[in-house]
Amino acid sequence: DWTPANIVEESVAAIREQVGDKQVLCALSGGVDSAVAAALVHRAIGDQLTCAFVDHGLLRKGEREQVKDDFVAITGIKLVVADAEEQFLTALAGVSEPEAKRKIIGREFIRVFEQTVRDIADDADIEFLVQGTLYPDVVESGGGEGAANIKSHHNVGGLPDDLQFTLIEPLRSLFKDEVRAVGEELGLPHEMVWRQPFPGPGLGIRIIGAVTRERLDLLREADAIAREELAASGLEKDVWQFPVVLLADVRSVGVQGDGRTYGHPIVLRPVTSEDAMTADWSRLPYDLIERISTRITNEVPEVNRVVVDVTSKPPGTIEWE
Ligand code: XMP
Repeated sequence: DWTPANIVEESVAAIREQVGDKQVLCALSGGVDSAVAAALVHRAIGDQLTCAFVDHGLLRKGEREQVKDDFVAITGIKLVVADAEEQFLTALAGVSEPEAKRKIIGREFIRVFEQTVRDIADDADIEFLVQGTLYPDVVESGGGEGAANIKSHHNVGGLPDDLQFTLIEPLRSLFKDEVRAVGEELGLPHEMVWRQPFPGPGLGIRIIGAVTRERLDLLREADAIAREELAASGLEKDVWQFPVVLLADVRSVGVQGDGRTYGHPIVLRPVTSEDAMTADWSRLPYDLIERISTRITNEVPEVNRVVVDVTSKPPGTIEWE
């Protein structure tokens, strides 16, 4: 039957069978999926696995440190970090169209990843690449039966034709709650296992408009405030995911002190969901929303308005792009 222990046991056997004595690489994103996928593969083949973490500059505050320090300390996994912020920002310069951003991020990700592989493993024979693709990702990217192509998820679409790795996708048949159960089963810390899902393209698809370092910095601050206040309220468990979105191409008039402002709105998009296929907007307490709003407008320069998204999925998606 379908217990976390059985899933682990079956996956470990399947991974060993597939990999043999070959070398495997895994890209860590900072999220639950890639962490669980890596831990699962590590359980199966130990030091034949090397993990790489691409810092694409589209991460939330503190995420790089979490992966680089915390995850490594717990698992003992071999990790290489690639600093690629500059490369991603250059490739994304001036691009606003959501699918174009997704394709660029997916493409650059693979490029950086391949370069990282060349750098670290010139003589090691890496044949396999682990990806933390989940069942809903497969379905929504058009990989499932009769599925519509809604958004090209960067962990499924956008792989170049000459990709020299065979993919290992140990979570491909699982939903999020099953992945979390597997993570617990593997002994990953509760905090990491229950982290909100975060999209592969990161904050790049939470800036409506072109992506720049300044805009990313604004959004990182606003996002950190929302996360802090949600955690302080003790309501984290009631929220599936809480995207914070910067409407970089929109300005509205406000007033601060005795002066007129002309700043950008921030959208709060807290949702409840079982599996991200459908979602409802979270009925967060007004006093929590008020604290988040007040802190963001006080602490984040250029943001003079905070709005709450009250759209379910469908018709909205969870992310704005
Ligand atoms: P949407 O916005 O389609 O998102 O309702 C559904 C879930 O998928 C996440 N998401 C992604 N995850 N790569 C990922 O790994 C992606 O490109 C991507 N795009 C969206 C989103 O955060 C939500 O949990």
